[in-house]
Amino acid sequence: MFDKDTYVQRRALLKKRVGSGVLLFLGNDECGLNYADNTFRYRQDSSFLYYFGLSFAGLSAIIDIDEDKEIIFGDELSIDHIVWMGTQPTLKEKSGQVGVAHTLPSTALASFLQKAAQKGQTVHYLPPYRAEHQLKLMEWLGIAPAQQTGSVPFIRAIVDQRNHKSAEEIVEIEKACNITADMHLAAMKMVRPGMREWEVAAAIQAVALAAGGDLSFATIATVNGQTLHNHYHGNLVKSGDLFLIDAGAETAMGYAGDMSSTVPADKTFTTRQREIYHLQNAMHLASVDALRPGVPFVDVYDLSARVMVEGLKELGLMKGNAADAVREGAHALFYPHGLGHMMGLDVHDMENLGELWVGYNGEPKSTLFGRKSLRLARPLEAGFVLTIEPGIYFIPELIDLWKGQRKFADFINYDKVESYRDFGGIRNEEDYLITETGARRLGKKIPLTADEVEALR
Ligand code: GLY
Ligand code: MN
Repeated sequence: MFDKDTYVQRRALLKKRVGSGVLLFLGNDECGLNYADNTFRYRQDSSFLYYFGLSFAGLSAIIDIDEDKEIIFGDELSIDHIVWMGTQPTLKEKSGQVGVAHTLPSTALASFLQKAAQKGQTVHYLPPYRAEHQLKLMEWLGIAPAQQTGSVPFIRAIVDQRNHKSAEEIVEIEKACNITADMHLAAMKMVRPGMREWEVAAAIQAVALAAGGDLSFATIATVNGQTLHNHYHGNLVKSGDLFLIDAGAETAMGYAGDMSSTVPADKTFTTRQREIYHLQNAMHLASVDALRPGVPFVDVYDLSARVMVEGLKELGLMKGNAADAVREGAHALFYPHGLGHMMGLDVHDMENLGELWVGYNGEPKSTLFGRKSLRLARPLEAGFVLTIEPGIYFIPELIDLWKGQRKFADFINYDKVESYRDFGGIRNEEDYLITETGARRLGKKIPLTADEVEALR
């Protein structure tokens, strides 16, 4: 936990920015995996963590801006809980650690909210992503789950605050990035033909746990890197395969790292793998070079896509004008996702509050295939922490679909693409802080160029 002044100051700024009403924070409860007492790893809600710092199940909080009062709601532990699960500080002690003077039992929250509504106060709440929170909001505020879209002024104030990382947050994120780099180094070294993917996934998690953290998201460690979020780990690694790793650490305080790397199953890349790998590197390096405050991230994405199209033209896979191909969306056959996303207490920071606010500042999003998957498009500002993760993929089902439709036939040489259909996918990913003048990579460097990767193997 940070010093209590951090949380006091964060809440003071939030109160000032929202201006009036009651702010409701629903902390996360335990969540059963296959029965109630066999729970998933506990994870506090990130906005609760950001403003109240406490990583314990069963807490909620309000900030009554009109009355200038903060209250944490929760219950003391029963002796049964202490016997089975261990003890915890009292509710007063926990609240004191984050500078909150008032506490009430959890049962008092419903009547508190009812009274606030009767007094004509606006109750601001965040869009829920857990069913138990949907039920609470339905019961307490009388809003059906489908209508629980959250309070826009509350969402926007949080997004503006959490998007700008403080110096102490950068230290914590950099710790996560260093553990993440170690996870990748361990994995990149060990991949060999004859292994199962799960051996690599296990080694990745071991590094995170041994560093006092855990995973910031489900590990991708796969010979099928063309499936963007592939969480299956049961394949046998074969000679000639590419192996894509996308994994990150979360520190004990909840901050995330997120990196990707791609290695050949053999000690070296084949010529064809090296060509595509080199092109992915060119996309990556051009993107990093373009990072600075004021630059719309969508422009950096477009640049990365144009670099790819130019390279694919040289390899005979694409044709025509690169800028036209990117504007019309033809590149998305090979690059159907965005260039990166905000990162902080969530690996996709604040995705639960809505991409529209986090990554677009309220500006409309494209609906075009590929471009619609940009999580981040807005102009960059100093203090933003984001990922850079361009990729090149050969997705057989997508190739078949577009080829059948003759889609973008002016830009895509389908006959040549056909000969790459079993290629797989390549992605590399690093994490960057936007500074006043440019950008700084966070965490230790992991091998990026083909030569660096082969030297590690
Ligand atoms: N690391 C997974 C993703 O960014 O979607
Ligand atoms: Mn990522």
